[in-house]
Amino acid sequence: MDSSKILVILLFFCCFNNIYSYFTLPGQCPDVLYYLQEDFRLADFYGKWYQSYHYSSDGQNQNNCSSMELMTRPSGIYLNISRVDRGLFHRFSVGKLDIPVKVDDAARLDLIFGFKNAPRRLKTRRYPFHVLATNYKYYATVYTCQYSPLIDKHYVYVWVLSRHHTLNEVSKELALKPLREIGIKDSDLLKDEFDKCEPKYYEDFPAEPLTFRFPVPI
Ligand SMILES: *[C@@H]1O[C@H](CO)[C@@H](O)[C@H](O)[C@H]1NC(C)=O
Ligand SMILES: *[C@@H]1O[C@H](CO)[C@@H](O)[C@H](O)[C@H]1NC(C)=O
Repeated sequence: MDSSKILVILLFFCCFNNIYSYFTLPGQCPDVLYYLQEDFRLADFYGKWYQSYHYSSDGQNQNNCSSMELMTRPSGIYLNISRVDRGLFHRFSVGKLDIPVKVDDAARLDLIFGFKNAPRRLKTRRYPFHVLATNYKYYATVYTCQYSPLIDKHYVYVWVLSRHHTLNEVSKELALKPLREIGIKDSDLLKDEFDKCEPKYYEDFPAEPLTFRFPVPI
């Protein structure tokens, strides 16, 4: 067997294994469109949001001390999602918001990320970023899901966002309501702590987002 074939096989196994560990929930992404925030107003979503709770269906917790904020640039509206990696570094990922044309679909946002060094067909990746609930002032619940046709499984990430580091009880109840309806239990959510968020080294630069799982197209 020549070395290129071995490489292909190795690559296949590495990616396939990754897919197995990321995509753990059976079947396709559930349809959450019925649970979207009605009359969503993007203009009121500006300003800083802190991830006060999150749920990652593969159990990986790589998005600690995370905050996010919309940014307006000449080419469109972008979302900056930041995090602290392993307590060491600031990292942020900027994705372009794809805004639905129909007003009824306003909460049904998508985020498009560019990966400069990836092979051509993997260069731009689009992920749902659906707002399930928000009152703009205190809380927001955002949902994403990716499906891997290869193994017929999906991956879910949920942000419970707060305007402050912590979420008050009333807001928390309202934020978790749509999640309970789509079958995500309160006990699935992990609380984020912001008291250990000073990274050891001050370095702030762009990196891949760790809240989405890309199903390698086949
Ligand atoms: C994204 O947000 C983080 C945290 O607020 C900040 O440090 C970083 O500079 C921002 N990136 C851009 C491109 O604005
Ligand atoms: C995030 O925080 C959790 C719990 O404190 C920790 O186990 C995990 O390693 C952290 N992940 C990163 C990438 O910092």
